[in-house]
Amino acid sequence: MINRFPWSSSVYFCHLLIISIVIFHTSSDAKIAPKCRDTDMNCAVWVASNSSDCENVELVSSHCLRTCQSCGEPIDPKYDVKLLPPKLKSIAWMVGRWRSEFGGKAFFPTIPKFTYGEQVDITIADNAEDARTPLLNYTAFAWDINMPDGDPTEIHSENGYIAIDYDKEQEKEYVSLNTAMSNGFMTIEEGESGPNQVKFRLQRIGRISFSHDSAVRIMFREWTLLDENRLEARLLMTTTITRRLMEHTAVIYKKIYP
Ligand SMILES: *[C@@H]1O[C@H](CO)[C@@H](O)[C@H](O)[C@H]1NC(C)=O
Ligand SMILES: *[C@@H]1O[C@H](CO)[C@@H](O)[C@H](O)[C@H]1NC(C)=O
Repeated sequence: MINRFPWSSSVYFCHLLIISIVIFHTSSDAKIAPKCRDTDMNCAVWVASNSSDCENVELVSSHCLRTCQSCGEPIDPKYDVKLLPPKLKSIAWMVGRWRSEFGGKAFFPTIPKFTYGEQVDITIADNAEDARTPLLNYTAFAWDINMPDGDPTEIHSENGYIAIDYDKEQEKEYVSLNTAMSNGFMTIEEGESGPNQVKFRLQRIGRISFSHDSAVRIMFREWTLLDENRLEARLLMTTTITRRLMEHTAVIYKKIYP
């Protein structure tokens, strides 16, 4: 079996110190009705773990108004973590529609740094009910905001699935992402699932012979929930041209649904 997690022993992740800023809102003015939103970043995992906590646990009922659907429009079942298969509960925080209008930063060795917009949709896949391997459905598309005519143009899209596996021997939970990308790549990425964070390492890659993008050798992808409304994504890679690990993209999305 391939070594799935070589980074745990490498110095590489020392650079990836992530500072999450959690803003606590105190209800200083009791007359203002609470907004229909969550006020704790753990709501999705709590509710996915036991949805009756919405009624029975004060911490959950008071901080997870939106996820508990105590207010607002009913949530589309594809995004309703109450319906998430138990196996996926530790990654319930990913579920949602995430978007950065123009906050993405991309770095290539051959062209100047540029900014882009991106939307990511992570939903409960149709197979969730019956499959032995329930899945989250992943789609992402990015657009260039620097076009001369001011019209955003799609520059990249990818679609795939996210799954979880529990390794009884190592007592660890692993997460996988497989994608098909618009540049002619297909990837198998795997990593460890931690609280509100996943780090994927590229395991396999397929690439059509006439893709314009240079072949990728090593790739890391890291998603971190910063607070109940923001998700950070970073992608690092070496290609046959760059030959050293460099940050390729970095973006912080806002949750736009639910
Ligand atoms: C969920 O929580 C309730 C109490 O709020 C408890 O009775 C029930 O057993 C829990 N269910 C699971 C699956 O842990
Ligand atoms: C995944 O999402 C796409 C786009 O929303 C949808 O067309 C497709 O049916 C979904 N597939 C599964 C297995 O859920």
